[in-house]
Amino acid sequence: MKKYYNAYEERYKKIHEEGLLWASKNPTPELINWIDYYNISIDDDICEIGCGEGRDALYLAEHGYKLTGIDISEEAIRKCGELSKERKVHVNWIVSDALYLNKKLNRQYDWIYSVGTLHMLVEDKDRQQFLKTINSLLKPRGKFLLINMGNGEVERKSDVSKAFELQERNHTISGKTFEVAGTSYRAINWENHKKELEDAGFIIEKMLNTRNEEYFKCMTVYLTKD
Ligand SMILES: C[S@@+](CC[C@H](N)C(=O)[O-])C[C@H]1O[C@@H](n2cnc3c(N)ncnc32)[C@H](O)[C@@H]1O
Repeated sequence: MKKYYNAYEERYKKIHEEGLLWASKNPTPELINWIDYYNISIDDDICEIGCGEGRDALYLAEHGYKLTGIDISEEAIRKCGELSKERKVHVNWIVSDALYLNKKLNRQYDWIYSVGTLHMLVEDKDRQQFLKTINSLLKPRGKFLLINMGNGEVERKSDVSKAFELQERNHTISGKTFEVAGTSYRAINWENHKKELEDAGFIIEKMLNTRNEEYFKCMTVYLTKD
């Protein structure tokens, strides 16, 4: 059965057929700040969950980091492979549902980050499974950076039965409008976000309201495995 949180697959196919990328090629500023904050060495392995078209993983690989980039969308990972060839960098790209990832990855990381992916998971049980799986993929005291859309005040859930329905959406980079899969979205307030993170076994080091060009208002959290 198709998972509602894999609706991006359809959006990527449509946009890639047009010769475009859905996201920009710019890296996420909050990610660069996190790398600087912990002074992460280029000798360490970093894992990205929900890498999409790879803008962050490719940027870090170009700066000498060793990356594993994981996404549920086959089309996203196909495009990542193409882009890493073009940009002459190596990234270990993997197609996998992050909720079931520990069956696929036989190792743990010191550093994991995820940008704009948890906000696609609407159901509490899916969010908890996502967070617990990531927790299990971290080494003891490993660090996790989580960035999602939201202002920390509003609570909202999209209708997951409509995730694959086509909607008119503006493609920011080309300025054109396309009919693409609506996908899914959950906005959560800080109180509930904090609870779900602690329930999944994380210590919260920092909680920040940030803003970037890709998602506008974001909730950014620095986490450590408890
Ligand atoms: C909004 S996009 C963000 C992509 C990228 N991180 C960025 O910011 O450009 C969300 C991504 O999460 C992926 N995704 C959603 N649910 C997932 C899951 N359960 N496991 C792995 N990837 C998932 C989608 O396929 C999509 O590529």
